[in-house]
Amino acid sequence: MTETFDAFVLRNDDAGFRAGVEQLGFDDLPAGDVTVRVRYSSVNYKDGLACLPESPVVTAYPMVPGIDIAGTVAESSDPRFEVGKEVVAIGRGLGTAHFGGYAEYARLPGDWLEPLPPNLSLREAMALGTAGFTAALAIQRLEENGLEPGDGPVLVTGATGGVGSTAVNMLSGLGYEVAASTGKVDEHEFLRELGAAQILGREDVSAPGGPIDAELWAGAIDPVGGGTLGYLLSTTRYGGSVANCGLTGGSELSTTVLPFILRGVNLLGIDSVMCPADVRAALWLRLGSDLKPKYLTEGITHEVGLDGIPAVAGQILAGAIKGRTIVHL
Ligand SMILES: NC(=O)c1ccc[n+]([C@@H]2O[C@H](COP(=O)([O-])OP(=O)(O)OC[C@H]3O[C@@H](n4cnc5c(N)ncnc54)[C@H](OP(=O)(O)O)[C@@H]3O)[C@@H](O)[C@H]2O)c1
Repeated sequence: MTETFDAFVLRNDDAGFRAGVEQLGFDDLPAGDVTVRVRYSSVNYKDGLACLPESPVVTAYPMVPGIDIAGTVAESSDPRFEVGKEVVAIGRGLGTAHFGGYAEYARLPGDWLEPLPPNLSLREAMALGTAGFTAALAIQRLEENGLEPGDGPVLVTGATGGVGSTAVNMLSGLGYEVAASTGKVDEHEFLRELGAAQILGREDVSAPGGPIDAELWAGAIDPVGGGTLGYLLSTTRYGGSVANCGLTGGSELSTTVLPFILRGVNLLGIDSVMCPADVRAALWLRLGSDLKPKYLTEGITHEVGLDGIPAVAGQILAGAIKGRTIVHL
């Protein structure tokens, strides 16, 4: 191993806020059982929030952001992860409370790691990353609550984003009829290529028309929240479920109890960060098999180096990113 390595570091001290590529040494890394030579990370909405000067998600500085990690084990005191093994990690405190994936090396607890699943490369694992994992978790929760292909259209909101684009492609691969809502009028063809059969404008789904409205959707995956979640609850069919994971459209929720007590609609909360280990391990296996998006690396993914992170972080917070951005180290 080299003595120093490249890292994208956030500092916030007496000299003010700075973000940029620096050289770190191994003594700078936090404690942990396993040191990983990071090969790929990715840029999620939360990484955009982490890079803000007044970040609502970073709890300590200096911080190496990057909530996703894929690489090979460089040093380990954990018998499950021998040197050279390919591993992935997402969530937990990575990139917000514990140094994350935007560095050539990361050190973390072995309990946060998974072996790279069969049928996924390190690059593909990060093309999925937290966004793809969350889309998969939302689909699994919808299925556990009764959703099946053939039930009718499933609406994905914020559909060109990381969670949205992977969800559209996964659902269509499973045989669902997929509807997609987007604010990007130029990206309807992209969404059709991913498998969306019906496309709605963001404004069509941004507020409930009434407490309960026409029954349209067999289910929904919602990374947008706010008025859009209110719309989904009021338009989901009898007994259907809405899986919410995000807040790009706002954290407020305006609804009534009527969708729940008159239509038996389920509101499912989706959290990838503290997802229990058994669920996480099983879902990574599905991500390499039936949930692997067909257009993952061709259509959905773009790549940057460490120096490209600030621009992408700004774009993702502005809602201007299409698909997934991976960081190549
Ligand atoms: N709960 C969890 O574990 C978890 C995990 C991953 C992500 N998340 C959350 O899920 C959300 C999406 O994450 P992501 O990484 O997929 O982000 P992303 O790539 O930026 O995608 C978000 C999409 O939301 C839409 N959007 C942006 N601003 C909007 C606005 N003001 N009103 C309505 N729609 C808007 C855009 O899609 P269109 O242009 O197509 O409309 C955008 O591409 C974030 O809130 C993130 O924090 C949560």
